[in-house]
Amino acid sequence: MENNKKIKIGLIGLGTVGSGVYKTLKDSPEVEIIKIAVKNLNKPRNIEGLDNSILTDNPYDVVNSDADIVVELIGGLEPAFDLIKTAIVNGKHIVTANKELLAKRGEELFLFAEEHNKVILYEAAIAGGIPIIMPIKTILAGNKIRRVEAILNGTTNYILTKMDVDKASYADVLKEAQELGYAEADPTGDVEGFDAAYKITTLATLAFRKRIKIENVYREGITRVRAEDMEAANDLGYKIKLIASAYLDDENRADVRVHPMLVSKKSTLAHIDYVTNAVSLDGHPIGSITLSGPGAGEFPTASSVVGDILSISAELGTSDYILPMMRCNHHDTAQTVDILDTENKYYLSLNAKNKLGVIGNIGKICEGNGISLSSIVQRGVRDNNTADITVITELCKEKDMQKALSQFKESEYINSVNSMIRVQI
Ligand code: HSE
Repeated sequence: MENNKKIKIGLIGLGTVGSGVYKTLKDSPEVEIIKIAVKNLNKPRNIEGLDNSILTDNPYDVVNSDADIVVELIGGLEPAFDLIKTAIVNGKHIVTANKELLAKRGEELFLFAEEHNKVILYEAAIAGGIPIIMPIKTILAGNKIRRVEAILNGTTNYILTKMDVDKASYADVLKEAQELGYAEADPTGDVEGFDAAYKITTLATLAFRKRIKIENVYREGITRVRAEDMEAANDLGYKIKLIASAYLDDENRADVRVHPMLVSKKSTLAHIDYVTNAVSLDGHPIGSITLSGPGAGEFPTASSVVGDILSISAELGTSDYILPMMRCNHHDTAQTVDILDTENKYYLSLNAKNKLGVIGNIGKICEGNGISLSSIVQRGVRDNNTADITVITELCKEKDMQKALSQFKESEYINSVNSMIRVQI
């Protein structure tokens, strides 16, 4: 392609991912970055060959430029939402890595893009460098996907892996991760599961071809996972991971959630460590597959952004309706299941008095709530005359487990419920 025929790209954001995109595309024969919006024009940047004359601190200069494709890499709801809409009105196709925007206002944006016959691609928004959006939309399009289980947040997977390997507490590992720059100064978005919830909302919408509303996604972070739980889980043949999951029940209702989970050491996800992400899914006719790889970082995420840019570039001018399979036209909203109505297996860690009848009391409370036990372990008595008791249940209703937990808290035999973590089925 001749130089003057290159597809024009406008970038909004030149942080970690934006820099990776710039570096990857700077000598591209197909595309040319013509305008880049940055927060601070005076910030020193170590990007070889960067032409400062294309920088602006007004992102509207990008959406009002003559770019063919606008790439939004600033994250958050506003001004990203308005910038994307303005860019679409101005005739641009969109590439974005904005998982929060897609989860909260994706439906509106996709409808708007469709009305203007523009595409929005977002491979980088979910699982960074792992190609998962494009495969679900294209080569897996013939599948009925019923189950997705994924590790979609590198920060929390790093923390849980370090807690496991170093037998360290959550607080100590978080501090170390912050010092090393693996966790943000305010880690809430990652450790409380918001980031993973945004990602599974979009992933489940694609997998089930029905809109999932973020408010119907159950979310629980990793802040209450203890080193003792890691150890107990290991003894019982599990690892603890923050799992983002989406299941479709027999009545086609979606159960979409993010919470810590005891994952069997025999499963692939148990072996996805540190910042690596992975997505496992079950579909028909494919069966089970897992894709794993880097879920964040400059070049892995740039790989997804650049792939989207080049997919659009290759099609521009070839048809009036480009990339039909990559569009999001899900108009039906999925019926969802409340967590209280789900069935799970549970790991419980209770601290009990060293008293005659403790195990009997635990058994009685479980029996009274229709909860059958799969295992119950007590390893001796502590110096303070209390005992930690670990329980794994068989499948039971969340509603019944919540009732049992209240009764444990009131029981004269039990000092405290240390942990309740759901177990992979
Ligand atoms: N904060 C995310 C993570 C990376 O820790 O995986 C960007 O999505």
